[in-house]
Formats: sequence, structure tokens, C-alpha cells
Amino acid sequence: MKYVAIHSGTKALYFSEKPPSDPGRNEVLVKVMAFGVNRADLLQREGKYPPPQGASEILGLECSGVIEKCGVGVKQWKVGDEVTGLVDGGAYAEFCVMDAGLIWAKPEEFSHAQAAAIPEVFLTAYQSLHWLGNIKEAESILIHAAASGVGLAAFQIAKLEEDIKIFGTASSGKVDFCKKTGYDYVIDYTSEDFSKIIETQTSGQGVDFILDFIGANYFNDNIKSLSEDGILVILAVLGGTKVEGINLLSILAKRLRIQGSTLRSRSLSYKRKLVSSFHHDLGKYFLKGTLKPIVYKELPWQEIELAHSIMSENRNIGKIILTVA
Ligand SMILES: NC(=O)c1ccc[n+]([C@@H]2O[C@H](COP(=O)([O-])OP(=O)(O)OC[C@H]3O[C@@H](n4cnc5c(N)ncnc54)[C@H](OP(=O)(O)O)[C@@H]3O)[C@@H](O)[C@H]2O)c1
Repeated sequence: MKYVAIHSGTKALYFSEKPPSDPGRNEVLVKVMAFGVNRADLLQREGKYPPPQGASEILGLECSGVIEKCGVGVKQWKVGDEVTGLVDGGAYAEFCVMDAGLIWAKPEEFSHAQAAAIPEVFLTAYQSLHWLGNIKEAESILIHAAASGVGLAAFQIAKLEEDIKIFGTASSGKVDFCKKTGYDYVIDYTSEDFSKIIETQTSGQGVDFILDFIGANYFNDNIKSLSEDGILVILAVLGGTKVEGINLLSILAKRLRIQGSTLRSRSLSYKRKLVSSFHHDLGKYFLKGTLKPIVYKELPWQEIELAHSIMSENRNIGKIILTVA
């Protein structure tokens, strides 16, 4: 099979070939039709985010395709089924071995490119809002990087709740898109102070939940912006890792919870439960079209370098998907 390899010196991406792996007992071999690009791929390419032990060294955390072969223990899937799902690695290839519990049927109304835009961002957003946070009890929430893949998935999932006010932050060029998408209030973080706006807009009460990808330079303002018993979920540190001048008093006095998480490092059993619960709770909304993958660009996989540069330059709004042919 062809796959996208990383040059050990220059880190350039190029096509190489090797035989596909055989699926293990509870795995399937999928002929990949489309795969998604994630920031983790950019880091892995630079040698800064190695795959977990036992995972494929090939890049790629999600794909959609057709089952080519089933492991001996797989009963729920058969050859020819169209599926989408999550992997710890290996999606940037013509064939990918996937755990049978981390895939689900591709919704018929979606293309493979659309289906490949679901797993990583929607599972992460669902886990953050419902497992790590409890947005069912929230009156208002703040989503940073509001136009990002995970941010837009989180927005759609949060919007399923009644009477929830959703704030977002984004750079200037993405603010209009977020407003049209339905965010209740979008803050242009390049010219506005989000904590001041949250204070005014919530009459000093703060928001109940914050989804953060920025880290260090947002930390103190995030603490300021949370209500009593508020929850901060940190998924990435795009703006740095070290925070100066933390005052623990607000964390104590407001009884805040701060939770970090990385999806890939979770155990297989955790991820299987997450996929099953996600499918149970939200599967119907994809069928009704209430939840939709947002694809910024669909490119042939020969354009993988372009796809990576779009993401590293923060140009995408939603997902970048590569089709395999
Ligand atoms: N922990 C987990 O389980 C998990 C799972 C999935 C993804 N993630 C991480 O979550 C982040 C978002 O993922 P994604 O796929 O949604 O990414 P994405 O679509 O590429 O969006 C990231 C956006 O973040 C904003 N941004 C980047 N650097 C920033 C900075 N220094 N300050 C403020 N905003 C900044 C940019 O939007 P603007 O133009 O608005 O600035 C950028 O387009 C990534 O870092 C990813 O690795 C974590």
C-alpha cells in the first residue's frame, strides 16, 4: 500500500510503500477513502508527539473507508461495510487497521470526506462537554478557538442544550463566520479582552464552563471568567505552557475545577466506551442533519503538504480532509 512517510532529516512528507498490516482479533482492515488532518499530526511530524506504544508510526488519527478484512473475533462488521472512526495512528495510508469498537457506520448522507471529519473533533468535544464538564447544568459557556475543528464541533453539541448562552473567541477574519454559525457572542481576541466582555455580558457572574486550547496566556483570564463551581477544560497549549503569577485564591474561593485531557493517550477501553456513548447520545443528530461535520477544504492526498501548511498557518475554519485515490 501507499502511505505518507516523513523524511527523517528534512521532515518533508513523501509517498512510500509497504504491505498493509493484518487486522488483529478485534480489528478490521479498512480501505481508506478519506482522512482528516489534526494538529497532533503536525507535532508528530516534527518528532514532538510520538504515537503511543503499539500504534502505527504512520500519521493520521481518523479516517473513513470500506472494510476490506475482519479479524477473527469481529462479529458486528463485515467486508464491504462503510465505516468511519478513530485510530491511534495509521490513517495517512491506502489501508488502515482500526479497532472494531472505535468505528461506526458512515452515515449514508455523508460522503467519506465528510464522515472523516467527524471522529477526532466530535469525540473530543463530546468528551469535554459531557464527560469532563457537565454542560447540561450550564447557563453559559465559553469556547476558545471558536472556529477550530474541535471548537465548531463543541459549539454544535452545546447548541443541542436549551437555554445555553455560547461565547466564543476567534481571530478577526473568523468572527463573522462564527456569528453566522450561531454563537451568541463572538469576541475578536486580537482586539478585545475576553475576560472583560464575559464579565459585562454575564453581569459579573462568569461562565460555567470554558473549553480552552490556548493555555498559558489565557489561564488567568480564564480563571477570572469562570463562575462559582465553574469548570475549565484544557485540551491544548497553543499559546504556551508556563503561567506567571497564578493567584490560587480565586480557584479556591470559586471552587473551580481545572481538567486537562488528551484523547489519544486514553486506554482502549475508555475510547471504546466513549465511542459507544457518543454514538448512543448523538448518532441520531447526525442522521437528522442537526450535527454536521464542517469541512473547510477537501484535497486529494497528493496535496498533503498544502493541507499541513493551511493548518499550521491557522487558515482553516473547521476540518481539512484528504481524499485517497
Ligand atoms: N487534548 C485532546 O484530546 C485534543 C483532541 C483534539 C484536538 N486537540 C487540540 O486542540 C486544538 C484544536 O484542534 P483543532 O483540530 O480544532 O485545530 P484547528 O482547527 O487547526 O484550530 C486551531 C485554531 O486555534 C487558534 N489558535 C492557534 N494558535 C493560537 C494562539 N496562540 N492563540 C489563540 N488562538 C490560537 C487558531 O484560530 P484563530 O484564527 O481563531 O486564532 C487556529 O486556527 C489543537 O491544538 C489540537 O491539537 C486536543
